[in-house]
Amino acid sequence: MLRSAVTGVGGYLPEQIVTNDDLAKFVDTSDAWIRERTGIRQRHKAAEDQPVSDLAVAAAKRALAAAGRTVDEVDMIVVATTTPDLTFPSVAAIVQRKLGCPVGIAFDVQAVCSGFVYALSVADGFVARNRSQCALVIGAETMTRLMDWTDRGTCVLFGDGAGAVVVEPVEGEGTTADRGLLGFALRADGAKQDLLYVDGGVSTNGQIGHLRMQGNQVFRHAVVNISEAVVAAAADAGVNVADVDWFIPHQANQRILEGVAKRLGIDSAKVISTVAKHANTSAASIPLALYEGISDGRIKPGQLLLMEAMGGGLTWGACVVRL
Ligand code: ACO
Repeated sequence: MLRSAVTGVGGYLPEQIVTNDDLAKFVDTSDAWIRERTGIRQRHKAAEDQPVSDLAVAAAKRALAAAGRTVDEVDMIVVATTTPDLTFPSVAAIVQRKLGCPVGIAFDVQAVCSGFVYALSVADGFVARNRSQCALVIGAETMTRLMDWTDRGTCVLFGDGAGAVVVEPVEGEGTTADRGLLGFALRADGAKQDLLYVDGGVSTNGQIGHLRMQGNQVFRHAVVNISEAVVAAAADAGVNVADVDWFIPHQANQRILEGVAKRLGIDSAKVISTVAKHANTSAASIPLALYEGISDGRIKPGQLLLMEAMGGGLTWGACVVRL
């Protein structure tokens, strides 16, 4: 059977670093509070003239180089983002143009912080059915553009960045030893919109809007929802949670990462954490964490990975990939 294998991973973070102390100069907060409640020490911020597609292109180039593929071979681009350059065309179509890829499939997926897990699962529907031979799945965000810089409950939490993977069809035996996406679980509960949303939009007030969040409520749902999705994705893949080599969570808050690990009995040494350096980069955080784990040599080919996320919607989900 055909499987969707991740054959290359790339990441990109904008140059400018904003520390907690930098934020404390204009908002009523402190480095100590942010570190203690979230684990965040700093975040990256895109330059004024740097649209999210530029971040996506930089990450995509690194992913293609790692996979040994060229832009001419890319026949599908799926971008998970909630902060597009324009209302349309999609960021994926803009990335296709900027990379110089041939005519192919290109579209965006909007599931906020769960976007990368959703996008990878959607891409699987094409790649594992032989509809794409070389797909780019990208999570890219400029979350700092959605911040209300007077709201200390949200503006300290987010950062900008992009991560990308190349996905290609590979022959598998239909067992859990196969390389590729082995299983996933996707969820949404639109009734919980008020917990986390942006108060602007094209067909409402015509504004970009600002991110609004009832942080403690989101926190309460996060550990329970993510844990359920992790168990469901592992069951879908036919593996045990204990068999997983690396957990690559969406990086929202160190306390959420630890809460999920504790609830599921996962050794914290198996959890990749980048939240201290990147903060919450929404759909970009999982591929960025994957990129970091591969780049520093911790994550190796053949290992079993479990990625999970929760975000606005509420949406949440998890997927199991053998690298
Ligand atoms: N600095 C100092 N004090 C602050 C700050 C800040 N940056 N932010 C809030 N506080 C204060 C509050 O005003 C409150 O003060 P009060 O007690 O005098 O009223 C106090 O700290 C406690 O506030 P809580 O909101 O209850 O603090 P909590 O411990 O819940 O931490 C946080 C807040 C960090 C936002 C946490 O709730 C959280 O991480 N939630 C989850 C967020 C998340 O995971 N989002 C993921 C999805 S994001 C997406 O999908 C786009």
